[in-house]
Amino acid sequence: MKLFDVYPVNNIVIDKALYSNVWDDQGTEYLDLYGGHAVISIGHTHPHYVKRLTDQLHKIGFYSNSIKMPLQEQLAALLGKVSGKEDYQLFLCNSGAEANENALKLASFHNGKKKVIAFRKAFHGRTSLAVAATDNPKIVAPVNETDNVVFLPWLDEAALEQAFKDHEVSSVIIEGIQGVGGIRVASESFLQKIRSLCDANNAVFIADSVQCGYGRSGKFFSHDYAGVNADIYTMAKGMGNGFPIGGIIISPKIAPSYGMLGTTFGGNHLACAAALAVLEVIESEKLMQNAATVGEYLMSELKKFEQVLEVRGRGLMIGIELPEELAHVRKNLLGTHKIFTGEAKPNVIRLLPSLALTQAHADQFLEAFRKEVK
Ligand SMILES: Cc1ncc(COP(=O)(O)O)c(C=O)c1O
Repeated sequence: MKLFDVYPVNNIVIDKALYSNVWDDQGTEYLDLYGGHAVISIGHTHPHYVKRLTDQLHKIGFYSNSIKMPLQEQLAALLGKVSGKEDYQLFLCNSGAEANENALKLASFHNGKKKVIAFRKAFHGRTSLAVAATDNPKIVAPVNETDNVVFLPWLDEAALEQAFKDHEVSSVIIEGIQGVGGIRVASESFLQKIRSLCDANNAVFIADSVQCGYGRSGKFFSHDYAGVNADIYTMAKGMGNGFPIGGIIISPKIAPSYGMLGTTFGGNHLACAAALAVLEVIESEKLMQNAATVGEYLMSELKKFEQVLEVRGRGLMIGIELPEELAHVRKNLLGTHKIFTGEAKPNVIRLLPSLALTQAHADQFLEAFRKEVK
């Protein structure tokens, strides 16, 4: 059997990792500023994470949601504490798309309405409604097409107000910082506007925090910078530091009922152990503060390069917009300097490292970047 060939891959086999470094099968060391699409939050193979998962595996790895699971309750309590959303309710699933799918569906169950407002360049995942709310026609199959999603220009308050006049809006879904769309920070006033329009129109504010959440921006949810709460936050990526787990946290005003949402794998013992280990390390190693400090340092240093068109982001979610003639830089960072970074088309380098990135690693990157843009 062959693999279904959907991924363009780098010709590198990684077989070892520790914190912000990975090694290939030839023993070459790399600096990982990408974390496999923003997934590595506390660092690769963090000892506390490895121990917690190993201990759990020796006890029980999986059972379904048909029994009581104290680990889920522990996770909900710790997540409430670390995120500051203690009165919210947690539903666990397995990926970011699934989190958004559940959020959009729950919003519609809650208010009985159908229209979803999403934004240009948004990415919300590849399942049916999540992909319909994603602004990339290439990944929307005919069967996913729907009139229920309305796309609006990014940060256009007048268009948002008009959409609420034109439609019976069920939910508004927005990334606090667009990731795939090129690291674009949602303004505080726009998020506040969404809050007030959702309140006035019985619509649900969904904060897609799959990429920008879990401490990456320097606050637990990047939407928190606006000083307003969303009704549902969706999470995945950094939540399990590589173990597949996603979830949504739901405001107390949305009431559950049996059978409304469900999943076989979501919230299993191993996934909860991974997610608990991540939150424990975020707390004990003060990783949100580290993301804010090292991120600010990186951004201020990057802004000094006159060749860079724009530096965008918050914390350790950084986009470096380069001119066309420097389009090769990202490839050389990997090939010559052994540094993994991400990209957003056409010419944005995306930095999404572990939240534990050290200043020394930031300097290693800046030195390589300096050589490449010279
Ligand atoms: C903002 C955002 N939402 C949702 C998703 C989908 O997550 P997953 O790939 O885990 O389904 C992604 C993935 O890149 C994302 O960046």
